[in-house]
Amino acid sequence: MNDIVSTIAIMSGITGFLAFLLTLAKRTVGDYGMVDITINGKKKLEVRGGDTLLSALSSEKIFIPSACGGKGTCGYCKLKVIEGGGAILPMEEGLISVEEIDAGVRLACQIKVKEPIKIEIPEDLFNVREYKAVVRKIEDITPKIKHLVLDILEGGEIDFKPGQYVQLVAPPYAESDESVQRAYSIASCPTDKNFIELIIGYVEGGVCTTYVHKYLKEGDSVSFNGPFGNFFYKDNDREMIMVAAGTGMAPILSILRAMKSSGIERRCLFFFGAKNRDDLFFMDKMQNLEESLFDFEFVPALSRIGPEDDWEGERGRVTEPLLKHLEHIENKEAYLCGSPVMIDAIVKLLIEKGMDEERIYYDKF
Ligand SMILES: Cc1cc2nc3c(=O)[nH]c(=O)nc-3n(C[C@H](O)[C@H](O)[C@H](O)COP(=O)(O)OP(=O)(O)OC[C@H]3O[C@@H](n4cnc5c(N)ncnc54)[C@H](O)[C@@H]3O)c2cc1C
Ligand code: FES
Repeated sequence: MNDIVSTIAIMSGITGFLAFLLTLAKRTVGDYGMVDITINGKKKLEVRGGDTLLSALSSEKIFIPSACGGKGTCGYCKLKVIEGGGAILPMEEGLISVEEIDAGVRLACQIKVKEPIKIEIPEDLFNVREYKAVVRKIEDITPKIKHLVLDILEGGEIDFKPGQYVQLVAPPYAESDESVQRAYSIASCPTDKNFIELIIGYVEGGVCTTYVHKYLKEGDSVSFNGPFGNFFYKDNDREMIMVAAGTGMAPILSILRAMKSSGIERRCLFFFGAKNRDDLFFMDKMQNLEESLFDFEFVPALSRIGPEDDWEGERGRVTEPLLKHLEHIENKEAYLCGSPVMIDAIVKLLIEKGMDEERIYYDKF
C-alpha cells in the first residue's frame, strides 16, 4: 500500500515539475515580445511574437489566402519576405519553386514571427475583409451540390471582381473539433453587394463540406473573408470560351451575370461537363442568359449517358464539343474551372490548337 502511495507521489512530483518547466519555457524561450511587421515598405504593425505570420496578419485584419487553413499544403499563402523570416523550411520547399525561393517567396503559415520582418503583399489584399452573414437560402441543386445565399450583416457590402472567391469559415461542429476555412467561388453578380451566392459540392469526409451539407441551416450565422483570386473577367473584345464542370460553374456564372448587368457585347460559348442529367443544374438560368446576353451559347455535355437515354445534347467528355468549336482560336480567350485533371487536359488542347497561353485563365479545384 505504502509502495503505491509513494509511486503516486513520485509520479505527481515528476508531472508537476515537467508542467513547471513547460510554463517556464513558454514564458522565456517562446517569449519574443512585440515584433514589427513592415508591409510594402509603408505599413507597420506591432504584433506579439511567436505566432505564425499568417495568424499575426489575420489578427490585424489583413487576410492572406489560405485554402488549407494554415497546414502548409495548399500553397495559397505565398508572400514575399524581404527581411527576417528565418531559413526556408523543408515543408515550404515542396510548394515554392526555385525561382520563387530566389525572389524571397515564403509560406505565411509556416513562418514564425520571432524578429522584425519586412514583407510584400499585393495591394488588393488590403481590401480583403471579414464578413458576418446569415444563411438566407441553402438548397440541393443536385444530389451532391448545394446552392447557398448568404446575406451580409450590419449593412456590410462586398466589392469583388466576377470570378473571385471567398474563404468560408466552418466552426467546430459535432464531427470536427477545429475551425477551418475553405475557398468558394462567388456565383452572384458583383452588383449585388449585400449578399453572395455560393455553389458547394459534397466531398466525402471533407471538414467544410460536411459542415455545409449536413449541419448548416437557413437562419444560421456564418462568417467568411475575401475577396481573393486572380481568376476574373478581363475586359476586351475577344470571343470567350468557357469550360466548367460541377461546382466550377460558380465563377463562370458570376462572370456571365456581370456581363449581362453591364450590357457587354461579346460572343461567348460555355461548355459544361456533367456525368448525367442528375448532375445538371441551373439550366433555367443558362436559358435565361442565352436569351438575354448579346451572343451566348450554353453547351452541356453528358459523359455517362447511354445511347438509349433521351438526351439530344452533346455526349461524351466536355472536350469533344469544345474541339468542334476551336476554329480561329487566335482571336479567342478561355476561362476554365474544374478539376486539375480537366484543366490540364483543356489547357494542353487549347495551346496545341494555337491559343496564346497568356489568354487562358483558370481556377483548379
Ligand atoms: C480558388 C478555389 C475556389 C474554390 N471554389 C469552390 C466552389 O465554388 N465550390 C466548391 O464546392 N469547392 C470549391 N473549392 C474547393 C474547396 O475550397 C474545398 O477544397 C472543398 O470544398 C473541400 O473542402 P472540405 O473541407 O470539405 O474537404 P477537406 O477536409 O479539405 O478534404 C478532405 C479530403 O478530401 C480530399 N478532397 C478535397 N477536395 C476534394 C475534391 N473536390 N474531390 C475529391 N477529394 C477532395 C482532400 O484531399 C482530403 O483528403 C475551391 C477551391 C479553390 C482553391
Ligand atoms: S495556408 Fe495553405 S500553405 Fe499556407
